[in-house]
Amino acid sequence: MEAITEYLAAAKRQFEQGLAAYLKEYPCKYEPLWSAVEYALTSGGKRVRPALVYLGADFCGADAASVEHIAQGLEMIHNYSLVHDDMPCMDDDALRHGKPSVHKAYGEGIAMLAGDALLNMAFERLLSVEDVHSYKAASYIAKASGMCGMVGGQCLDLSNIGGVGADYEKIVAINRLKTSALLRAALCGGAVACGCSGEELESLENYADCLGEIFQIVDDILDITSDSATMGKEVNQDCKNGKVTYASINGVNKARAYIKQLNDKAKGALSQYGVRADKLNAFSDYLLNRAF
Ligand code: IPE
Ligand code: IPE
Ligand code: MG
Ligand code: MG
Ligand code: MG
Repeated sequence: MEAITEYLAAAKRQFEQGLAAYLKEYPCKYEPLWSAVEYALTSGGKRVRPALVYLGADFCGADAASVEHIAQGLEMIHNYSLVHDDMPCMDDDALRHGKPSVHKAYGEGIAMLAGDALLNMAFERLLSVEDVHSYKAASYIAKASGMCGMVGGQCLDLSNIGGVGADYEKIVAINRLKTSALLRAALCGGAVACGCSGEELESLENYADCLGEIFQIVDDILDITSDSATMGKEVNQDCKNGKVTYASINGVNKARAYIKQLNDKAKGALSQYGVRADKLNAFSDYLLNRAF
């Protein structure tokens, strides 16, 4: 566990440095939009998706520096999704990263545009390295973050309000789309950018689908059990919004048991790779036990 914690801390430092350098040189800074974009991107996320991009490269024997553009692009897409997710028309959350959400700090119009700008900036960055593997990664990420992935999942989640009972299949579909898709895009985007094989890609996809489900169910558990000072965002939001989650239907204990099973399944997807999978196995243990 210690080794992965150190790896992730170093990955986060490297990511923050690269992102700051990219933002410094960005050519068009119209205010107040630019400040809102910087606020959304640099207020203190855990940087789970950049770490996954680096892990995808590492799995292929490449170093993090070769996929910096993929890591930055992914985190821009993720943060745009949070800006929109927090708006009153969606989850109506006033707090993010321990600060007022973007629409609270800058108003709804600028929050909407900050999301738009971040999404385009993501693809500017993803496509800034002219190389066939990077372009394939960008195409993979475009699909996974749009209607066939994260945005589609957010659409299903909008109507995931009360009354559906224990509709387990529906919850799995929502989690796999709204959350697994971006985590998969990160890990597989990193690996595709480094020229992974089709067989490797399929194994990583199976791992990441489970990892994303674990990640969202832990988020849903923490929404019930944690507090806003620890999370940096409001808690009890799913209950307030009438959202049906695995934890709200089955209770926290059963949800914890279920994600342990998912963790075994995630690791099983990589069992043929021996020590090559060590970091990814440690990473899923780490996310399973995260406290914020
Ligand atoms: C929050 O993601 C949205 C979910 C998919 C649960 P993170 O928990 O990765 O958010 P930050 O970037 O660390 O704030
Ligand atoms: C968000 O899920 C998934 C996204 C695609 C943004 P949540 O709505 O549970 O995320 P939080 O709890 O607001 O971070
Ligand atoms: Mg939401
Ligand atoms: Mg939300
Ligand atoms: Mg949540």
